Amino acid sequence: MIRILAIGDVMGKPGRKALAKLLPLARKKFEPDIVLCNGENAAGGFGLTKKIYHQFLDTFAIDCITMGNHWHDKPEIHSFLADSERMVVPANMMNVGELRLAYRVLKTAKDQQFAVINLIGKAFMHPDNRDFFEPVDQILAQLPSNCRIRIVDFHGEATSEKQAIGQYLSGRVSLCYGTHSHVPTADERILNQFTGFVTDVGMTGPYDSVIGIRTDAAIRRMRTGERRQFEPATGQIWLCFVVATVDPATGQCVHIERHRWELDTLKDQIEDKDSESDT
Ligand SMILES: [Fe+2]
Ligand SMILES: [Fe+2]
Repeated sequence: MIRILAIGDVMGKPGRKALAKLLPLARKKFEPDIVLCNGENAAGGFGLTKKIYHQFLDTFAIDCITMGNHWHDKPEIHSFLADSERMVVPANMMNVGELRLAYRVLKTAKDQQFAVINLIGKAFMHPDNRDFFEPVDQILAQLPSNCRIRIVDFHGEATSEKQAIGQYLSGRVSLCYGTHSHVPTADERILNQFTGFVTDVGMTGPYDSVIGIRTDAAIRRMRTGERRQFEPATGQIWLCFVVATVDPATGQCVHIERHRWELDTLKDQIEDKDSESDT
């Protein structure tokens, strides 16, 4: 069996701190073969830098970074996206022109092939985002037939779209999980006795906030419309993730569970208590 550990949107420095402190504990407990995270908010809440991309790969040993509507917020990403073997951007987003940027076929340490696919929603998202059903069909048709472990991060606002794509792909992918809402949902289950699913994994970052942003700034913008630069909040840091167990021969998910780990609660178990781990 292959175990997949999938982490939702990593929010700025607090999110990276959660990875630094808690991911080693999660690795010890679950011994995952594949670790994924969504990196669209990893750099100050907006986008991803080359430095953080490499930190995710080299320090945190993330196997593949999925993205979302904020993928292009840091202009430098255009200089390394095409060569990034371990990052995917949403296939149907209005400014993603090439399907090949939206999926990767990689191998685990046990030499098992797996595919990671990134899609984005349309409802309450950029109005020019395109249909997501047809691109995912095209991608699945392009995957090697012996690559049975197939994972989809669907980055969307509407729970209805997330559930629709889960049902649409049930029986055809191993794991389909939602990101973007920055709030975990408690509906993890196996669809069609095959596909592990959760509507949203939840943010990894500061929950004493409004979806990761400082509460005072978020309320100020809602009340006045003032558009000052948002900053990530700092308090109540959680690591949110799902762990799915998949049969590599068939791609069938046989178990999925959801976790919400709070940094403060687990402090005593963290071995590297003092280091900030260059987060
Ligand atoms: Fe996000
Ligand atoms: Fe997003």
